[in-house]
Amino acid sequence: MRILAIETSCDETGAAVVEDGQRILSNVVASQAALHARFGGVFPEVASRQHVRTLYPVVQQALREAALRLAEVDALAVTRGPGLPGSLTVGVNFAKGLALATGLPLLGVHHLEAHIYAAWLRYEGQANRPEPEFPLIALIVSGGHTELVLMKGHLRYRRLGGTRDDAAGEAFDKVARLLGLTYPGGPAIQKAAEQGDPRAFAFPRPRLPNTWDFSFSGLKTAVLREVRRWQAKNKPLPVADLAASFQAAVVDVLVEKSLAAVREFHARSLIVAGGVAANRLLRTRIQQESPVPVHIPPLSLCTDNAAMVAAAAERRFAAGQRDGLDFDVMPTWSLSEVSLPEPAEEHEAA
Ligand code: KG4
Ligand code: ZN
Repeated sequence: MRILAIETSCDETGAAVVEDGQRILSNVVASQAALHARFGGVFPEVASRQHVRTLYPVVQQALREAALRLAEVDALAVTRGPGLPGSLTVGVNFAKGLALATGLPLLGVHHLEAHIYAAWLRYEGQANRPEPEFPLIALIVSGGHTELVLMKGHLRYRRLGGTRDDAAGEAFDKVARLLGLTYPGGPAIQKAAEQGDPRAFAFPRPRLPNTWDFSFSGLKTAVLREVRRWQAKNKPLPVADLAASFQAAVVDVLVEKSLAAVREFHARSLIVAGGVAANRLLRTRIQQESPVPVHIPPLSLCTDNAAMVAAAAERRFAAGQRDGLDFDVMPTWSLSEVSLPEPAEEHEAA
């Protein structure tokens, strides 16, 4: 089964063709980052209009790189939510148009489910990598989300916790702005941190005991306070040290909490997904410290892309699902709403 998938939930225009949910035939992403950099974040209306311009050529390129005509595709998938309403609408309407014209089955996909299913994609040099085993813990860390999820089987999600304020990626983006670095902040902070000392500033590790929730706004405020202190002294900001100390604090919290969940729920694997999973320190630390195999997609599959949307759609098509042509976008949409029910015997045992 070959799925043509579309992703336009935020500021990346993506189209991909994936075979059997795992083999990437093409995966085209047109990033709008440069366009939004001068705003220091994503400007929603600019994003939707850029998707309008770019989506058709991106889809054409995805088909061309897969060496397929539209008629040779078996199904269509598109990100339905969560995300920016205007941006989602561009992708969903385009996909509906394709479905109407071709008669192909169409499925609207949950963006976080897509991030998780990136862990099942096969990529160069890793073709024989073992698949994630259930039960598993998934840490989803992106610009809009920080979620800790327990999966006992495919398409079954139990949300353990999430951020109470800023998402991890959002914290990176906001702190980058405080430090005068460019958008997106994650890669900029990582780069600046390479020259810095992670112990230079003792920023708080917001640990929130007895819950799987996270909180990053206090950490952001602590950085702001430090920035103001240096500005008041009229001294140049120690950007590298601030970046390294901030990054170390975020990574500490993410690593500790996800590994605690792995132990608590006797997970057999750990998935780290979403744009922040591109962070080198997080990748290294979690791989080194996890007692179970860690599955982190390569960088290009961590940040928003359409191959991951196809991977998730494949599982849903296999479970017999498909959508009509009348579904709406879901700008806010929790993963539990799309979870398959727990099998009966586990209900009774619980
Ligand atoms: O998943 P994603 O591409 O889009 C959303 O669905 O939000 O995630 C984007 C987020 C941004 O906040 C960006 O700063 C962050 O991922 N990010 C990183 C890195 N690369 C991207 N954060 C930390 N370190 C990185 N290397
Ligand atoms: Zn994302």
